Amino acid sequence: MMRFLLTCNVFLFLSFTPLLSEDFISKMEYAKMLYSNPRGIGCNKCHGEKAEGAIISKYISRGKEVTLSAPAITSVSKERFSQALTSQHKVMPTYFLTWQEIDSLYYYVSSEVKK
Ligand code: HEC
Repeated sequence: MMRFLLTCNVFLFLSFTPLLSEDFISKMEYAKMLYSNPRGIGCNKCHGEKAEGAIISKYISRGKEVTLSAPAITSVSKERFSQALTSQHKVMPTYFLTWQEIDSLYYYVSSEVKK
């Protein structure tokens, strides 16, 4: 029993320590992580790693080549950004993000220098 409690304490100590140090994960690191893993398909998969926009796919429809792409989102306004993330689209999935998460994503896509 003693041994078990001891192990538990060590475990608790180890698992909580990172949260206490402020620079455990920077604002940019968190925002970048969320951008590629927003509880759904990563934004990077369609909009590109740095939100610069990207081609999703090319296909032939009625004998013509059609290009499906996601726009650059590095300079959209905060209002437009929030609007896009809280509405339904044809290609882009619907996300269920908190305002803090939307803030963080906006911080990432609109930052001049992305780390
Ligand atoms: C499956 C591909 C796909 C994924 C994943 C995706 N998007 Fe999009 N996104 C699009 C496409 C295509 C458009 C443009 C047409 C539309 O609105 O559907 C778009 C539009 C937008 C717009 C509006 C741009 C404007 O100029 O008004 C924003 C902002 C945006 N996406 C942000 C995001 C963020 C942030 C994520 C991740 C949480 C994300 N998207 C994930 C495909 C995607």
